[in-house]
Amino acid sequence: MIPEVTGPEPRGTAPVVAGSSLDRMLIRRIRDGEELGLRSIFHSSVHDHGRTHYSSEQRSAWAPATFDSEAWVILMRSLRPWVVETADGLVAYGDLQPNGYIDHFYVAGSQGRKGFGSVLMGHLLAEAKAGGIDPIHARVSLTAQPLFLKHGFIITAGNTFILRGVEISNATMVRAGGG
Ligand SMILES: CC(C)(COP(=O)(O)OP(=O)(O)OC[C@H]1O[C@@H](n2cnc3c(N)ncnc32)[C@H](O)[C@@H]1OP(=O)(O)O)[C@@H](O)C(=O)NCCC(=O)NCCS
Repeated sequence: MIPEVTGPEPRGTAPVVAGSSLDRMLIRRIRDGEELGLRSIFHSSVHDHGRTHYSSEQRSAWAPATFDSEAWVILMRSLRPWVVETADGLVAYGDLQPNGYIDHFYVAGSQGRKGFGSVLMGHLLAEAKAGGIDPIHARVSLTAQPLFLKHGFIITAGNTFILRGVEISNATMVRAGGG
């Protein structure tokens, strides 16, 4: 998702432990002090996973090397994302806002295709169902579209916009009907 800030999300603080073929993982809310660690996940995610669909210039516009750390901390405290924690530390994060918007959804660059994205999405969908949030929507990168399609989202619009002077494309995707 390309930056869009929405309000805090008051529900769902219980951690979830899921088994996986790789490791045991904990899905829980971000804790104070973890915000900048998520910035590292965001940066590596965009620059590693995003290289299939986005040029170096586009990836640098999306996730610049330099950033306003105070603004990032404020953003993370506003979004209150869920994090995926393993024995090796945090590997992914994603949020779900009360209006059904997923603003951030990122798996660390070194952790792709291990199932963390699917587990995290499954958690967001369960949270949505428990909270009666329907539909769910996001502005989804070309890179993430296969995962979102796999989890029941459909593309409702293609978007092309200018971010930090660089043209970027993504798609609006919606998942309706709960379940
Ligand atoms: C998209 C992203 C979240 C996927 O995370 P992940 O942990 O690698 O995803 P999973 O391992 O759970 O994959 C689940 C399924 O999604 C699909 N998928 C994931 N990555 C894919 C890729 N690069 N190409 C094609 N399909 C992909 C596959 O169907 C996959 O199932 P499979 O491995 O059994 O084939 C990750 O690549 C990422 O963080 N990308 C960069 C940031 C980004 O675009 N975030 C979304 C912003 S809108």
